[in-house]
Amino acid sequence: MKSDCIITALDVDTHEQARRLLAVLETARIFKVGLQAWLRMGPVLTDLLRQNRKELFLDLKFKDIPNTVAAAVQAVLPLTPRFLTIHLSGGGNMIRAAAQAAAGSTTVILGVTVLTSLSNEDLAQTGAGITVQDTVLRLCELGLENNVSAVVCSPREIAPLRRRFGRDLTLVTPGIRPADADSGDQKRIMTPEEAVAAGADYLVIGRPITRAQDPGLAFRRIQVAITPRRPHAFKPKQTSEPNDKSGQ
Ligand code: C5P
Repeated sequence: MKSDCIITALDVDTHEQARRLLAVLETARIFKVGLQAWLRMGPVLTDLLRQNRKELFLDLKFKDIPNTVAAAVQAVLPLTPRFLTIHLSGGGNMIRAAAQAAAGSTTVILGVTVLTSLSNEDLAQTGAGITVQDTVLRLCELGLENNVSAVVCSPREIAPLRRRFGRDLTLVTPGIRPADADSGDQKRIMTPEEAVAAGADYLVIGRPITRAQDPGLAFRRIQVAITPRRPHAFKPKQTSEPNDKSGQ
């Protein structure tokens, strides 16, 4: 995984907060705009990202009837998001309608499986009769059958998904917490290095970066943690110092 696979969740309320974060996160390339920031700032924020040459991940998690979702996808395509989220639980017809609406554009439709803030118990309360993991596997299958092959899941589901679907799926994982970070409302979490080792393609990270005292440093530490270390170049052992003339 390359270090530009960190997606920073720009969950802020004001243009000034967004501007300050962009100023200190100059090496971050993809920024996720979700409901909070979009409802506050809308296209003003996406314009700011474009001016800063950043890529947009628009996380509006569409879930509605197929016709409405297709129209919503078309409405935001002019913003040229690299990723745009829908809920896979919206069903096969809705997934297909979203994929069709984005066909021919550069936008990748990302299917949200089960929110990383939900546990098995939380899911059971909604009436689901199967575990989080089985729900995620089932929803990914539904996505693949309906032309969506990039999904959002927790890092805990990466291994079973890779076992079942191999490299067919692009896996984007929130629920990332460096070892010393607060988990907040996230329940199915892993550290960045664990998620990368498990096979994540992209990591979505918000508060551990944006609420850090020094967001730039927090970002760089995560970059370092997930960057594979190069094996040390082999240096032949010298039997004598290069300028050692004792043998002459
Ligand atoms: O601050 P934190 O790192 O928890 O932010 C995670 C981001 O990923 C939030 O913007 C949240 O909306 C989003 N997200 C998530 N779980 C999903 C899908 C998106 O946490 N399944």
